[in-house]
Amino acid sequence: MRQVDPLLGTCSLTELRQRKSVKWREYPPEVLPSFVAEMDFSLAEPIIAAVTAAVALGDCGYAHPGQLADAFAQFAADRLGWAPETAHVYPIPDVMTGLAEVVQAITPPGSGIVVNPPVYPPFRFRFGFYGRRLIDAPMARGADGRYALDPDAIEAALSEPDAGAYLLCSPHNPTGNVWSRADLAMVADACQRHGAALLVDEIHAPLALPGARFLPFLAIDHDLTRAETTFTFTSATKGWNIAGLKCGLAVAGAPAGTRLLAERWEALLASHLGVLASVAAFTQGLPWLDAVLGQLDQNRALLAGLLAEHLPGVRYAPPQASFLAWLDCRDLGLGDDPADVFQEKGNVALGHGPHFGAEGRGFARLNMGTSPELLEEAVRRMASVL
Ligand SMILES: Cc1ncc(COP(=O)(O)O)c(C=O)c1O
Repeated sequence: MRQVDPLLGTCSLTELRQRKSVKWREYPPEVLPSFVAEMDFSLAEPIIAAVTAAVALGDCGYAHPGQLADAFAQFAADRLGWAPETAHVYPIPDVMTGLAEVVQAITPPGSGIVVNPPVYPPFRFRFGFYGRRLIDAPMARGADGRYALDPDAIEAALSEPDAGAYLLCSPHNPTGNVWSRADLAMVADACQRHGAALLVDEIHAPLALPGARFLPFLAIDHDLTRAETTFTFTSATKGWNIAGLKCGLAVAGAPAGTRLLAERWEALLASHLGVLASVAAFTQGLPWLDAVLGQLDQNRALLAGLLAEHLPGVRYAPPQASFLAWLDCRDLGLGDDPADVFQEKGNVALGHGPHFGAEGRGFARLNMGTSPELLEEAVRRMASVL
């Protein structure tokens, strides 16, 4: 049996099934859940200590930003080569809520938000709740299955008269792409030409894998990094697997953006436990994060071998970041939504490709944030449907 790093626990299925999060409660126990972006590893010890100490003390009130901005800035300096202005960093309850609030504040009702499908499904529906519409700038897909931003599609999307903002997913979910400086500059140039706000979701940044160099948008040299309508969003919730604790960070490009976040401080109150956990993650969670990165690096290679052996009809380009594998299942003859078939006939639940946009038809997203054993089991179950 291949061991996972002791820092990450054992990924025992018996223990995991005791969890009550959506991953473990959405489907009956015979279904192996490999869909939502939660990892199966044990939490980092410093996070457990911070949260249990607070609960033991009855310290469960409203959040104070405390050390969050400093803790994040230290992490960004150490790991991302970026020194964010701590005064521009604000806690938010989660990335999607922060994005929704900022979109409402900086774009007129009826505006279009440009996104790059296939893309994280809530990008596709969330802004409709607030009377904004999506404008798709689909990514280009090469013969090798790798994706790239498509400057022509972006230009066309931003040329729509109501295009108010561009929402870049960086690193990109579900393709796992890490964008280069040239990619970021191309997007920023296009937004600048068209007067569109630029919002960058960097939630997967702590999980850039060996071989990839993640670049925070605000660290590049571009006028738009200092614009009033530029914001980046991140959190410790993907990197350290604490989405349920509810804390993200918004970083404004300019003082006016900082004021906008400050005015909305109470509307965007993070969870107090989430702030404490995130500080622990950014300051004391690096050995754990390194263990995760090592495991994910192994898992993405292991998956290539498993697919070649058991599901040679599936095409997969290993991600440059995070724990999500975007699987091209179109040659399997399982229709537009292969995840339905994998779940019904194979008892393994994957993310539904079409939820990521029309470009996701025939695709499924597999979560690799687990042990090699459970990854193997997921692929075995997928193969059993054929
Ligand atoms: C790209 C991206 N943005 C946002 C989120 C959700 O973040 P939050 O729970 O902070 O809203 C996810 C979750 O998987 C994600 O992949």
